[in-house]
Amino acid sequence: MLEEFIKKYLLFGIERIPISDIGIDVETAKVLNDLGLLQLTSNTYLELKKPSAVARSLCFLKKYDPLFPVIVGYEDVKELICRSFNEVGLNILFIGPPASGKTLFLESIYMLNKDRAVYVDISNTTPAGLLDLLYISMPEILCLDELDKPYDRRVYYTLSNILEYGNIIITKYNKTMSFRFRGNVYGGANTENSIQEHIRDRFLKIYLRTYTIDEIREITTTALVKFGVIPDAGLAAEVVDRCINAGIISIRDIIKIGKFVKSKEDINLLNKIIYRLNKRRLV
Ligand SMILES: Nc1ncnc2c1ncn2[C@@H]1O[C@H](COP(=O)(O)OP(=O)(O)OP(=O)(O)O)[C@@H](O)[C@H]1O
Ligand SMILES: [Mg+2]
Repeated sequence: MLEEFIKKYLLFGIERIPISDIGIDVETAKVLNDLGLLQLTSNTYLELKKPSAVARSLCFLKKYDPLFPVIVGYEDVKELICRSFNEVGLNILFIGPPASGKTLFLESIYMLNKDRAVYVDISNTTPAGLLDLLYISMPEILCLDELDKPYDRRVYYTLSNILEYGNIIITKYNKTMSFRFRGNVYGGANTENSIQEHIRDRFLKIYLRTYTIDEIREITTTALVKFGVIPDAGLAAEVVDRCINAGIISIRDIIKIGKFVKSKEDINLLNKIIYRLNKRRLV
């Protein structure tokens, strides 16, 4: 039941759901309400109050799969991440080429811990902006994307303080404020070399490699169906096959192309798009 709810929340961002939709009665809903995980509103709806508590319960039950409904494969990584939720000071860095799933993992970690996490794109954030955000939200989980391409390399000093001592110090309007960060940092990067060594060293590094053609086929077909881009699995598989056969092997491109195909009649249009894409590549 909780699994179904968290899946809907992660797939579609649904935080409020009729209790009948997840097949429970009012009494059970009241128990969940008393546990503080979900809030029963008007005897009809349940609201997800603490994604992190639900996620931890599912991790405890070793039900890792519903926690990552948008990520195909990587079962070992999913388990590792879930186990890390119960630790403090265990930092994980995902390193891999474009479209290998780094942001997908960071977003999932954020969504699973929304009530105690922040997600920051380091390539777009000043050190002061990062500190402000941390001070306002005082998170236990920090998801830092694009860690190898900082907007301002001085952000590494800020991170160094956080990772080494858990110290967050802000000086503003002639006042100094500070608080301690006690939690985990999750990062994403294309390469590790451009990240300062003492920062890199404080992470457990997980390398995500380039996908094989078969993996691309599986990931894109599943993604097209799951996200409702092409609900018909047969049609989704055909679209993916045509793209791959035409030499289009970028996951992002295949998913974009899929958005133009709503029915079998759109296959003609699909052929034209593929032709255009190939032409552009030849120029
Ligand atoms: N294992 C996977 N399961 C499902 N979808 C995936 C998987 N890996 C990649 N994708 C899809 O590929 C696209 C790119 O993934 P993502 O944004 O996580 O890549 P990235 O590693 O962060 O790339 P970049 O280095 O460019 O930031 C997403 O749209 C995602 O849906
Ligand atoms: Mg990314």
